[in-house]
Amino acid sequence: MRIFSGIQPTGTLHLGNYFGAIRQWVQLQEGNECVYCIVDYHALTNEDTDPAELRQARRELALDLIACGIDPEKTILFFQSAVPEHTELAWILGCVTSYGDLTRMTQFKQKAAEQEFVNGGLFYYPVLQAADILLYLADHVPVGEDQLQHLELCRRIARRFNYRFGELFPEPQPILGKGARIMSLADPTRKMSKSYGPEHYVGLMEPEESIKKKIRSAVTDVGLKPGQEMSPGVANLFEILELVAPGELVAELRQQHKEGKLLYKHLKEVLYEHLMRALAPIRERRAELAARGEIDELLAAGAERARKIAREVMQQVRARVGLE
Ligand code: AMP
Ligand code: TRP
Repeated sequence: MRIFSGIQPTGTLHLGNYFGAIRQWVQLQEGNECVYCIVDYHALTNEDTDPAELRQARRELALDLIACGIDPEKTILFFQSAVPEHTELAWILGCVTSYGDLTRMTQFKQKAAEQEFVNGGLFYYPVLQAADILLYLADHVPVGEDQLQHLELCRRIARRFNYRFGELFPEPQPILGKGARIMSLADPTRKMSKSYGPEHYVGLMEPEESIKKKIRSAVTDVGLKPGQEMSPGVANLFEILELVAPGELVAELRQQHKEGKLLYKHLKEVLYEHLMRALAPIRERRAELAARGEIDELLAAGAERARKIAREVMQQVRARVGLE
């Protein structure tokens, strides 16, 4: 299978990103041809994107991804903006995209409602996303549930192009990970996310002391509804624990909780210990990579490989639509 996925460079990765998405990207490398793209053009649609921050964020994300196990030898890892064919194809695909479809995108409607100045890029975002995928003739796309509508649109665009200009693009199918949904430790009714502020996420590369503090102060007892056995906060701690600790240990602690014997302080200590153990190899690799300083070369090589595919597909697209 040819797998494509993209991630926005909005800073360093947190536990939600890792356990919800990136871990699966890593696993998919086994036996598939993977193309993973850091979508910096998409990041420009965010109102407050600062140039210096973007420059740093996309590089840090690349380091994080490789540290998590994305293998830049095997997999094509690159910055979207290093392959100009993405925007070229986006324009052409936009011309076979229904305006009505674009107005129905829920992500667009949500974001547009949140801000005063709604830029055109935000509206065109799903077309660029379709171009990302179709440019590599990818047939599978690992994404979170929130991206299913964009992927459905991508298939409609592919179908319409194929119908008008002859069969070229596969209709890419989602790979919906059974990835965990991690909630904020400070407010376990909301998902872990950077947008709510630093207390609402745990960065993979955060200093140990800071992680310890966040876990120690994680909300546990609030939000227990009558008849409910476990509050959302405790359930979230167990959810994370399950990802990093041996099954028997988790079962034992669950039993203790059931019998009302579990001290949350103990649960948090166990979680901290096992989480740090699980993250240690990633954190070590990240430090090594940053010290070696070859990330720019790795990304340039990734972009070169991506462009080779992109150029060939673009050639065919241009010929099909009559631009050559
Ligand atoms: P974002 O930076 O929010 O666009 O997320 C990048 C990827 O991480 C997406 O595939 C999300 O589905 C995943 N992700 C983000 N936050 C969480 C979370 N709290 N739990 C699980 N997955 C998440
Ligand atoms: N919109 C996706 C997100 O927010 C990121 C993305 C851009 C993407 N292009 C893509 C995901 C292509 C999959 C395939 O998560």
